[in-house]
Parts: sequence; C-alpha cells; structure tokens
Amino acid sequence: MIQFPKDFIWGAAAAAYQVEGGNSNSDWWPWEIKAGKEPSGVACNHYQVYEQDFDLAKEMNHKAHRLSIEWARIEPREGEFSEKELKHYIDVILSLRARGIEPMVTLHHFTNPIWLSEKGGWENKKVVALFQRYTEFVVKGLAKHVHFWITINEPTIYISHSFILGWWPPQKTSFLAAWSVEHNMVAGHIAAYRAMNKIYQEQGLEKPAISISQHVTSVVPCNQKWINRVSAKFRNYWFNLRILNALQRASTLDFIGVNYYSRQLVDLKSLCPKKFVMECSAGHPDFPSDKNFLGWDIYPQGLHELLLQLRKYDIPIMITENGICAAEDSQRWQFIQIHLKTIHDAMQKGAKVVGYLYWSLLDNFEWAHGYGPRFGLIEMDYKTQKRTIRESAKKYAEVCKTGLLPE
Ligand code: FCB
Repeated sequence: MIQFPKDFIWGAAAAAYQVEGGNSNSDWWPWEIKAGKEPSGVACNHYQVYEQDFDLAKEMNHKAHRLSIEWARIEPREGEFSEKELKHYIDVILSLRARGIEPMVTLHHFTNPIWLSEKGGWENKKVVALFQRYTEFVVKGLAKHVHFWITINEPTIYISHSFILGWWPPQKTSFLAAWSVEHNMVAGHIAAYRAMNKIYQEQGLEKPAISISQHVTSVVPCNQKWINRVSAKFRNYWFNLRILNALQRASTLDFIGVNYYSRQLVDLKSLCPKKFVMECSAGHPDFPSDKNFLGWDIYPQGLHELLLQLRKYDIPIMITENGICAAEDSQRWQFIQIHLKTIHDAMQKGAKVVGYLYWSLLDNFEWAHGYGPRFGLIEMDYKTQKRTIRESAKKYAEVCKTGLLPE
C-alpha cells in the first residue's frame, strides 16, 4: 500500500457547460447547431439536481469538488448581472459545504456569453476589463464561502482549439489571433487575481488561493532528428511553461493547477510552422501504448516528468484534472491507480502535490465529441438521467477515505 499525506485533498472535477444543461446564452449553444455537432441540450441536468450529484460525491468520500460558473448565466447581456443566478451558485457551494466538501471554483471554462463573442471575445482587448468586472461580481458574492479559485481553465487548449486548429468556436486558424488571445488571457488572469485579493481584504477574509488550470502535455520526439527534438523542446516551453512563467513573474499564482491526460508524439516531415507547434502523430509504431476511447495515449510517466519540471516554481501543485474516457470501466481504475502512483513517486522527489481531482464526477458533454466519451466516476443514462456509481469509483472512494493506494 502507498500512503498519501493525511491532509491530501481528494475529489473530482466538472465544468458548468458540460453538466448543467440549457446554457442557451453561451457561445457553444448556437455553434453546436451551426457546426453540425451533437447539441449539449439538457446535459446531466446538474443545474437542477446538483444536490443529488453531491450526495453521490459524499457517498464516495470526496473531500473537494471543482465546479465552474457559467459567465453567460451571470451576465446574460452585457452589463446586466443576474442576482438570481449568483444566488444559484451560492446555493450550489453551500450544498457542497453542507456535505463537508471543499469547493474549488473556476471562473472561465472554455465558454463565453454570446454577447462577448459578438464583440470579438478574447481577441478584443476589452475582454480584460469585462472579465475583471464579471469576476468582481461573482467573487463579492462567493468570497466568504470559497477559498480555492481557478480563473481560467486551460488557456493553451482554448487558444489552440479555437484559434489555431479551428476546431472550436470561433473556429479561427490564425497565429495572430492566438497571440492576442494569449496576451488577453494572461492580462485577464492578472487583473482578476488582484481584484479578487482586494475583495477578500475588504471583506476581512483570509487570502484566497488562486491559480489557473494549466493543461500540461508530455511532448516526446519520435526519433533523434533535430526538427523533432527542437519542436518537442519548443512545445514543452510553449504549451506547458510559457503562461506559468508569465503569471509567476507577476506574482499571481498561489499554487499550480495541473490538468494532465496524455502525450504528444512528434514526427515531423516538413518545416510547416503550424505542424512544428501542433502536429501530433496519433500513435507511432516505435511508441506503442494503451489508449483511451478517444485514441489518446495513456502515458503516466509523462505526468511524473512534468511534475518534476514544475518543482522549479516552488509552489504547491493541485491536480485539477486527470482522467480517462473508457468503454471498459476496469481501464479507469487501472488509469487512476497508475497515475496516483506516479504522482506519489514525484512527491517523494520533491514535487509539492497537495491534491488530486479526477475528471470527471460524472459522464458529461465532451465538447466537440458530444456524449460518446465517458469520463465519469458516475455513469449517466442520458435517456432516464439515472446515475450509477461505477466500480472504479468505489475503489477510488476507498483511496479518498484512507489515503491508501493499493499497489
Ligand atoms: C480538458 C477539459 C475538460 C474535459 C477534459 C476531458 O481539456 O478541461 O473540460 O473536456 O479535457
């Protein structure tokens, strides 16, 4: 058995748009129809039945839960803030607290209000002040109930999927646009960080713990060709470290939120700039590996290496997402077990990991892939909305209870 520290924070994560249902003021809602994707629709109806889901989280011994606030609910039209929706999220957080579950709240998880996307969204530099204003409204209401915050989820995934690869709204394929978005997201985080601290001070509250959730990916060159080695090094810097460096320089990270899923294999045939920073081989004969339902390589060593790299920042690390979509639930427990083991190994070597949130509490809307991939500890029957705790989740529940991981 492997023993984790007594105060290690165990739980699961989710995001508003993926579970709540009915987020018709968000930019994904019309885009799903326009792009011919599976619509998110009622999702898990979590907006209505969150108490039932938190009962299950409690039954599974979770000590923490990561959720997000849907900006388009709070501010459905520019400058029009909804007290009713703020009250809803206060109720959600209090219902976690009532069950002894620590909330961790994300302010931006991929989706934007439609009115904001019509103004150019994160490309428009006005977004920095708009994001700050939305943050202030939310934080004034929630400060006394929340200690852990994530301002922005996975800026590099948002930027690459929405502005370079053109897979997500607004489907741009422009490095220039990507550059502006990155710049505004960094500025948005810094502005929000400072505004949040000010509110805590004004309300006489203990300083909150604020970070982003950084998607880190292990980048592996498929051979010793210089182009692959240089590309891999560049990507490690660009995807994994660049934004963290900027936020650390501005002293606006209290911990590092880490989301980890897989690796990128680099095997370039040409010097095309987009391929240089983005192209991944879906598997490689020299690098066999188990895969999840979406074909992503399962590569726990990558998390180990990345956690060791992150030691240099010398601040606590919280795993804010790690998980697998699997057709067979037994694969999920193996995934959790091997990733926890790798985290524990990295902790022995000085990585200051303080908690682990499995992605996700329940099966949910997996963005452009719709409802096919199933990441949940809880299985969703979308026809009946029935929830069933999976066997893997029961094993994880034992770890959450005891801090002991069977080897
Ligand atoms: C992450 C996202 C999360 C979910 C998982 C599978 O990139 O933050 O919303 O889609 O991937």
